[in-house]
Amino acid sequence: MEQKNEKRKTIVIGITGSIAAFKAEELVKELSADYDIEVILTQSGKKLIEVEKFQKLCPVRDCLFQPGMTYRDYLEREKIGHISLADKAGLILVAPATANLIGKIANGIADDLLTTTIMASKAKILIAPAMNNNMYTNPIMRENTGKLKKLGYFFIGPATGRLACNRHAVGRLSDTGDIAKKARVLLEEPLKNKSVLITAGSTIEPIDPVRHITNKSSGKMGYALAETAKAMGADVTLVIGPASIAKPGVKVIEVNTAQEMYDACMQNFAGKNLVICSAAVSDYKVLDESREKIKKENNATLKLELTKNPDILKEIGRRKTSSQKLVGFALETENLMENAVKKLKNKNCDMIIANSQEAINSENNKVFIITKNAVEELEEMPKSLLAAEILDRFR
Ligand SMILES: Cc1cc2nc3c(=O)[nH]c(=O)nc-3n(C[C@H](O)[C@H](O)[C@H](O)COP(=O)(O)O)c2cc1C
Repeated sequence: MEQKNEKRKTIVIGITGSIAAFKAEELVKELSADYDIEVILTQSGKKLIEVEKFQKLCPVRDCLFQPGMTYRDYLEREKIGHISLADKAGLILVAPATANLIGKIANGIADDLLTTTIMASKAKILIAPAMNNNMYTNPIMRENTGKLKKLGYFFIGPATGRLACNRHAVGRLSDTGDIAKKARVLLEEPLKNKSVLITAGSTIEPIDPVRHITNKSSGKMGYALAETAKAMGADVTLVIGPASIAKPGVKVIEVNTAQEMYDACMQNFAGKNLVICSAAVSDYKVLDESREKIKKENNATLKLELTKNPDILKEIGRRKTSSQKLVGFALETENLMENAVKKLKNKNCDMIIANSQEAINSENNKVFIITKNAVEELEEMPKSLLAAEILDRFR
């Protein structure tokens, strides 16, 4: 076991009863190079790993009430185990996290050492789910993760890949290297004292009271950027169009139309260190929005006249000061690089993220990062990791 150093931060790693529990050993090994690690096992987690392997690496606990301990022992000897663990944790990382564990935290249940420590801690909590795909897509699970995200809990994964039940589907524990990377970011906060404005999702342009024009953007990239920027310690404002995914726990301004998004951006962009425009903003709106529902009986054909919306990226590029950085996204169906390079120049951006239409509504993205001096091709990766790659360039 490594020598204790008082200055080292502590990560409490919770290991639950998932088939991926054995992978936590790699995490403990990797993170103990720089941090003090304390492991908490749930009773189910304990059944799926070789406890001795972990005991050789760090302190391991598995129960709230220890056999033979008296009231006085808890107060004097252990300083109440779960409270002292909760207080000294810089980060609590649950990897792998079962559906059961996530459900318990989301519903305020604290009936073992891990859930009680989480409940008692003010530390950041990072959850790495791993489970069967039907468990992960169960609406109860969706509701629980949505609730926790909104409350500021951080998630990584799960990834899509081969599951223990031999299906290729979502539910696999994220790569342990990626989990360790995110844990480090949460502890080190490389964007502390920076403020970031992010736009995400689509906008909608009304045709009449019950119809509108929109596009296929899901908002996942912008949400990943917002969540990651927050994890990196930034103060984040997210301007979002209508989107059906769980909102991250940052300041959120909800808008519908491109004009509303433009207004929200102009009101909030002053003083921001970094602005990332990832929203798919409608270029056009309907010139004469009908006050009543348009009836087909009166129209054999229907012509909609469209007029241009304000250009948010261009206007921020025009107004930004020399200390503000601006990132735009370019999505093209043809001549991607040529158009992206043009956009960088015309909109006075510091960086353009060029992606193709496969990015829409996908969990992954494959992009080129274009700056004045370089074009960098990144491999395909989950949007949360891409968000970290982008934000890392503005530390
Ligand atoms: C062999 C085995 C593998 C399991 N793998 C998972 C898993 O990957 N994810 C999950 O959510 N539940 C899994 N379960 C079910 C959980 O162990 C069960 O819900 C348990 O109550 C979780 O307790 P805990 O959250 O306190 O660790 C598995 C069960 C068994 C027997």
